[in-house]
Amino acid sequence: MDVYQAIKSRRTVRDYKPDLIPEDVLRKILQAARWSPSSSNTQKWSFIVIQDREILAKLGEVAKQGTFIGQAPLCIAIVMDDAPRPQLDAGRALQQMELMAWSEGVGMCFVGVREEGQVKAVKELLGIPEKMELITLLPFGYRAEVPKPPGTPRKAMNEIIHFEQFGGTAQAQ
Ligand SMILES: Cc1cc2nc3c(=O)[nH]c(=O)nc-3n(C[C@H](O)[C@H](O)[C@H](O)COP(=O)(O)O)c2cc1C
Repeated sequence: MDVYQAIKSRRTVRDYKPDLIPEDVLRKILQAARWSPSSSNTQKWSFIVIQDREILAKLGEVAKQGTFIGQAPLCIAIVMDDAPRPQLDAGRALQQMELMAWSEGVGMCFVGVREEGQVKAVKELLGIPEKMELITLLPFGYRAEVPKPPGTPRKAMNEIIHFEQFGGTAQAQ
């Protein structure tokens, strides 16, 4: 799958088959994270790979925006340590991971954990040091055979793209 095809076809996946992610695919996803760019190449990230069923089930109970983590065969938590631009660095890494996974037929979902009690519970469960910032939990898996949710529409090009100046129009489609 080429990059454009992966970008255009990618969709968030929240229903997973129980099938495990093969070791070589997991390696590629982790290498995609490792080779991500970061602010001044600080690489202040840690990626916690969770495949233990009990821990996955507990994460699903704690993360109210991502209860489906409990059904996923794999979850990767991104944690930043005193990074200058943690959200951007983590965002670059997770997008690379997502596209790498997608090109291998594996989907994922960004799960936000922001409520204080939930953050604390996840940190305790995963042994994340207090001073580190939990950015997200990313459940991965092959898409289950369930009715696909309606597509996720995008704004028209002319609503979001500006040429030369804000409000500048051109013929892009
Ligand atoms: C910063 C961010 C936070 C998100 N948080 C959640 C979340 O907590 N739970 C969830 O189910 N989806 C979450 N999503 C997924 C979005 O709902 C999804 O990407 C969006 O609806 C577009 O759909 P698509 O990814 O299929 O194109 C999040 C996405 C982003 C970028």
